[in-house]
Amino acid sequence: MTSLLETPVPAAADDLTLRRGAARVLLTNWTGSSTVPSHGLYPHQWSWDSAFIAIGLRHLSVRRAQRELESLLGAQWADGRVPHIVFSPEVPLDAYFPSPDFWRSSTAGAPSGAPAGTETSGIVQPPVHALAAWLVHRADPETSRSRRFLPRLYDRLVAWHDYLTDRRDLGGGGLAAMVHPWEPGMDNSPCWDGPLQRVEPAAPGSYRRADLAHGQAAERPTDLDYGRYVRLATDYRDSGYADARGTHAFAVEDPCVNALLIVSEHALARIAAETGADPAPHEERAARLTDALVERLWSRADGMFLARDLVADELIPERSVAGLVPLIVPGLPRDTADTLLATARGSGFLLGRIPMAPSYDLTGHAFDPSRYWRGPAWFNTSWLLERGLRQYGQTREAAVLRAAMLDAAGTSSFAEYVDPFTAEARGTRAFGWTAALTLDLLADEPASPDALSIGVRT
Ligand code: SER
Repeated sequence: MTSLLETPVPAAADDLTLRRGAARVLLTNWTGSSTVPSHGLYPHQWSWDSAFIAIGLRHLSVRRAQRELESLLGAQWADGRVPHIVFSPEVPLDAYFPSPDFWRSSTAGAPSGAPAGTETSGIVQPPVHALAAWLVHRADPETSRSRRFLPRLYDRLVAWHDYLTDRRDLGGGGLAAMVHPWEPGMDNSPCWDGPLQRVEPAAPGSYRRADLAHGQAAERPTDLDYGRYVRLATDYRDSGYADARGTHAFAVEDPCVNALLIVSEHALARIAAETGADPAPHEERAARLTDALVERLWSRADGMFLARDLVADELIPERSVAGLVPLIVPGLPRDTADTLLATARGSGFLLGRIPMAPSYDLTGHAFDPSRYWRGPAWFNTSWLLERGLRQYGQTREAAVLRAAMLDAAGTSSFAEYVDPFTAEARGTRAFGWTAALTLDLLADEPASPDALSIGVRT
């Protein structure tokens, strides 16, 4: 197979058309205070979607990008958790499952400090928010300062990271644990197949999936997986959303979640300095998390990071794109970064040889090019890899990936995910973060010595 690196970097077909198309998606998906990932499949506000969306929305409207993060953090629980869904009261209950009457956050979540006036889910998603807040600030520091955007968010972001590093340190090794496959955001990744074996699925007739009305069954999780998701969410709810070591049937440390936490902690240091607070504790926490990531999740044999199953206390022998995302972490040991780059280019992910890296090892036993997180390529993970490549000096490869992403975004009508070999659209279309990250890739950011390295294109 010829490497894409051997051919000239293709110019994006028509940047203006692409920019207009992406802007149209974000304008259509805007609800007045936040952006839905998709009006059909995901008609509420999702946590990590909102963060990625804000990163793109800042190029269209800084005020809306600020609002996106403010509305999400406005639904934060008193224990610091940022819920993975903030429900819109205007959307009918049967439009999405599990709906607010399943989560019952304002009652079942009260012992954990859920807000009384807003319905949310009770689980979390990866912490991209401090990074997003910093990048939104940088897009227009003057407006940001005049609206006191960062001072108003800072305490909430600190509480969020405290929740993850304190209550969610279920393994005791300093990393944040996730207690449901929806939390790391890569719902049906083959990484979770083993840990999920221990979970008794909820009875098939006890709930009704809404997702299949909007997507192909072959591109969505199976009913068996759904039954297990419902069981885990029910048990967590019935515990009052309590976090205690040894009580969760599913508990994992994920490399993508923790890499994002580290980058966001570095962003929090920048935010602290900007708002007059002390950045040092944040830099120290980022350094501790980086050491823990390498110590607990690096697999020398696999040449990449793996997730850790905390119930069995062992690394999960499945290779997913989550294990490459730590390329966004600054200051990795050089041999670790070099090995990660080699693994990304190797037969499992073919970075630079196919349009976009798959979500799961192409040679893995469970690879499926179409089904949700079991093989298709996603734009958020590719955006993170593009920044990781630049951070570790691979500017030419980053440019190739950027061009391939722009091409795929346009030809797929801003699909949720794509076939990694052909870039054909999979999942839903007009997807929020695909459009937003397209806008971000199209924007030329000036290099600044004062910027987080992953936010700078040189
Ligand atoms: N991604 C999940 C879904 O498909 C929930 O966050 O609904």
